[in-house]
Amino acid sequence: MSIEIPEGLTELLQSFTVEVLRNQPRDLLEFALQYFTQLKDRETKEASFGNDQNSAPRPGKAVNFIDEAMQIDSENGEEDDDDDDDGFLAAPVINRFIRRASVCAEAFNPDEDEEDKEPRVTYPKTDEQRQRLQEACRDILLFKNLDPEEMSQVLDAMFDKFCTEGEHIIDQDDDGDNFYVIESGMFNIFVKVDGTEKLVGCYDNRGSFGELALMYNTPRAATIIATSPGALWCLDRLTFRRIIVKNNAKKRRMYEAFIETLPLLTSLELSERMKVVDVLSTKVYSDSQQIIAQGDLADCFYIVESGQVRITMKRSRTKKDQEEEEVDIATCSRGQYFGELALVTNKPRAASAYAVGSVKCLVMDVKAFERLLGPCMDIMKRNIANYEEQLVALFGSSPETEQQIA
Ligand code: CMP
Repeated sequence: MSIEIPEGLTELLQSFTVEVLRNQPRDLLEFALQYFTQLKDRETKEASFGNDQNSAPRPGKAVNFIDEAMQIDSENGEEDDDDDDDGFLAAPVINRFIRRASVCAEAFNPDEDEEDKEPRVTYPKTDEQRQRLQEACRDILLFKNLDPEEMSQVLDAMFDKFCTEGEHIIDQDDDGDNFYVIESGMFNIFVKVDGTEKLVGCYDNRGSFGELALMYNTPRAATIIATSPGALWCLDRLTFRRIIVKNNAKKRRMYEAFIETLPLLTSLELSERMKVVDVLSTKVYSDSQQIIAQGDLADCFYIVESGQVRITMKRSRTKKDQEEEEVDIATCSRGQYFGELALVTNKPRAASAYAVGSVKCLVMDVKAFERLLGPCMDIMKRNIANYEEQLVALFGSSPETEQQIA
């Protein structure tokens, strides 16, 4: 007897399983009920926009509970769940079990030049303070694409805040006031699941938080509590939106077409793909420059925007030989991605990557990426099978016996 698996069943169950693993609900049945009800609601809504290919309902399309699903810009021709749409970078619903609908604060159109309407905020700083601030902001993804003038305005507007152990910096569901950059201190992240707060992660003396409510005009998506005394740099909501959100809108326009062509992201909604742009930065490499090194720890993955990237792996010349040679195992060109496997498998980089000629890559910080689009990691897991085939062709064995790639 042959059993036919209905189209979409695998994806449907896979997406559901991912959400269960991420949320760890106490009442699985209740969770399933809400998950599938929302999925059905979404499908019904999307069906009413049925002639748009991007919004056509897909079986098994994940409902992302913990993170928000970007509601839809009117300019994208997609729908919007709330009536409060300010029509711009509007309103994701974060953790749909418990979030109230987005209460919109001030409307802001990043395309309008608001710069001269609002007085600029400046907090005077000593040289020493400014240096500490610059150091804390060095790796902040959201600041990476600012031009020097914008960056200088951001630094001027930031003010410091010292916090004590146990202090609530952010409470879930509150409206967003500031974006925070950590100079020092430890902070726990809690997200309410089924009415109970669940510890989902922590910050250890670096990083930033509080951007989601300001970027998408939503209530706070998590509670952040200091677990040690700490020092934070804060950026007020208006300056954040005037500079960072505006900059992201520019980035979206720049990368919209390219992002549309990426096979990795085709199973995402258009609005989700645009959110991916919000969390990416770009990096340029010169000929032969190493992009990732075998053995390194991984916190991001790469998409080639232009040029070619050589992926190599070290292996012994002979079975007894201690000496290693570096073997080319793949080449990536425009639109292809690399460096994601270590993130999926949680292991150090098992291959290196080098620029061939001048190369420009989009760099995805994986934490930011997962916060927006968790189940996307799942999409990448499916592609691991391709690596296995590549390795078998090259070395005659699978990743179980050889090391795993990048
Ligand atoms: P925001 O929603 O403005 O305020 C709470 C912040 O916690 C949020 O922005 C993120 O910056 C941060 N955060 C860290 N981890 C998570 C998570 N898993 N879900 C939601 N927010 C998170």
